Amino acid sequence: MSTILAIEDLQVHFTVRRGGQRLVARAVDGVDLEIAPSETLGLVGESGSGKSTTGRAVLRLVDITAGSIRFGGVELDRRRRRVPSDYRKRVQVVFQDPYSSLNPRMTVGSAVADPARRHLGLSKADSMQRARELFDVVGLDTRHVDRLPHEFSGGQRQRIAIARALSSEPELIVCDEAVSALDVSTQAQVLNLLRDLRVQTGVAYLFIAHDLDVVRHVSDRISVMYLGRIVETGPAEAVATAPRHPYTELLHDAIPLPDPAAQAERRTARRQLRSSADPPSPLAPPTGCSYHPRCPFAMDICRQEAPTPTPVDTATGAWVRCHLHTHGPVLAGAPVAELIGWRRDTPAGDTARGARPTG
Ligand SMILES: Nc1ncnc2c1ncn2[C@@H]1O[C@H](COP(=O)(O)OP(=O)(O)O)[C@@H](O)[C@H]1O
Ligand SMILES: [Mg+2]
Repeated sequence: MSTILAIEDLQVHFTVRRGGQRLVARAVDGVDLEIAPSETLGLVGESGSGKSTTGRAVLRLVDITAGSIRFGGVELDRRRRRVPSDYRKRVQVVFQDPYSSLNPRMTVGSAVADPARRHLGLSKADSMQRARELFDVVGLDTRHVDRLPHEFSGGQRQRIAIARALSSEPELIVCDEAVSALDVSTQAQVLNLLRDLRVQTGVAYLFIAHDLDVVRHVSDRISVMYLGRIVETGPAEAVATAPRHPYTELLHDAIPLPDPAAQAERRTARRQLRSSADPPSPLAPPTGCSYHPRCPFAMDICRQEAPTPTPVDTATGAWVRCHLHTHGPVLAGAPVAELIGWRRDTPAGDTARGARPTG
């Protein structure tokens, strides 16, 4: 696969003070991911899993502790301020809250024109013309370029933020919870817009969100993040509909279904996947597999050894980081949902050490 972005064993640690002690928070603790030109990679996981920190490392807003980020084949300096001269042109961002990222006193037309002036060297008049064209592209009224951000709705402001991100003709846009603050129908419109823009411009997205259903609708591939690591990567449909990792299955079963019977079944599955264990902290990640305290299928090895990526489909490069596929009862690469029924029939407290599920 040709790549525009390649992240290898990325670590981003922060020093925090707790009661006079200096502790290290391993916000990103060994992330590997790749994005091809014009591809959308979804990065999904619960709040606190390290998604934004990964995005901020790509955007060069935080220093890299260890590992590497290569963009366009060139390895980036670990210090955030040392960026290649054209990096700000080539990599852009759309955050969750466009209101805080738009200058309240600058007209939205100037906000959209600004990157084109700065990075493409357009004149004031030409960059304003580009802003008008971009307004048209993202579905805004070109007559409104002279308005201020507060005169727009949340969905419109997100369109302005997208227009601004496109203004410098970037190759990659990091979208961090870009639709999370919008209502469901506006969300769908903005997701469709992002998809159309990718076809039109060839831009690639690192699409970060906590909602697997949202990520699924926009991504080619999905990487699932838990406590600073990617636990599963694969084609979007496969990851979203037939998860290989118990954590992904938990995210999958959290998506509500319109059909009451199907929803009841999903609720039952969710009860089995959920655990009372507190979500662990990056200040003290559990030994072994960091998901083991919450995993209903945890085996002895899960408490002792961190799992390495196991390929589940060589054609797509899909992989999962879970001992169940190498030491446990799931056939390597099979959907982990097979285990849900199996565990239902297993006496309480008995963990996955026995035979494969039957039927
Ligand atoms: N600047 C920082 N200093 C200390 N801890 C941080 C900092 N930024 C993030 N963290 C911690 O790193 C972890 C991951 O955060 P974040 O990347 O924002 O996760 P997500 O975007 O998945 O919700 C959290 O535990 C968070 O508290
Ligand atoms: Mg975040």
